[in-house]
Amino acid sequence: MLTYTEPQRTPGPSASPLPRHIAVIMDGNGRWAQQRGLPRLAGHRAGTENIHRVVRATLERGVPYLTIYAFSTENWSRPREEVRGLFGILAEVIHRETSALHKQGVQIRHLGSLEGLPAPLRGSIVEAIELTKANRRLVLAVAFNYGGRREIVAAVQRIVREGLSPEEITEELVSARLSTDGLPDPDLIIRTGGEVRLSNFLIWQAAYSEYYATPTLWPDFGPEDLAEALAAYCQRQRRFGGLAGPPTQPAPLPTA
Ligand code: IPE
Ligand code: IPE
Ligand code: MG
Repeated sequence: MLTYTEPQRTPGPSASPLPRHIAVIMDGNGRWAQQRGLPRLAGHRAGTENIHRVVRATLERGVPYLTIYAFSTENWSRPREEVRGLFGILAEVIHRETSALHKQGVQIRHLGSLEGLPAPLRGSIVEAIELTKANRRLVLAVAFNYGGRREIVAAVQRIVREGLSPEEITEELVSARLSTDGLPDPDLIIRTGGEVRLSNFLIWQAAYSEYYATPTLWPDFGPEDLAEALAAYCQRQRRFGGLAGPPTQPAPLPTA
């Protein structure tokens, strides 16, 4: 049950401008279907169709990065028919939507692992990435077979294989070994479906993200809901550990 309510704030001079990067945990497809007496896959289909609407609204707003969480490494624990059905729906949607996205200047990226996915699905993901790689209007990153912990483990493995010394390991270097390399950290993370948790999504990158949770189920989340989330975000004051108000001179670092 969602217990958090957005506090009423008066936007001041330090309120945030539009986010550069919005990340969405698209949750609630199963409940959407259940409420209608439909099979869960019908909810996944409706949810997948909804991506289109939200991408369009994001393009209209001029936000340059959108990440969507579509399938987690933990979602493999669902019944086999649901997992297979989801893979089929994703393959269909890539097939149907890629050329329209390409024409709109959308660059498609994949976050997560292609390992274990059926070969035709892997092929269509790779093709969509290749076709759209030069587009610059909007980067649409699809987290599919993605888990934040797995991503960090893979980054550590790469670093060890590269034989780097402890002194060379910085936050920037770790970020550059994640599948989000080149994307700014998400400014705003929206979760639909009423839960208030990350479920292993972008756990490194979300260090200073603003959260917005809504009980609206993903297939029903439309441009007005996005507008509401953005309005809430714009009233937040991001402090990144500092103090409110204009930036002050940082204190000197302690000397050893
Ligand atoms: C989100 O919807 C999509 C995936 C996790 C693949 P759910 O399938 O989790 O929907 P609920 O939470 O059961 O309603
Ligand atoms: C999170 O939803 C994953 C995606 C939206 C892809 P889940 O439905 O899997 O999350 P939990 O199990 O409720 O944490
Ligand atoms: Mg769920």
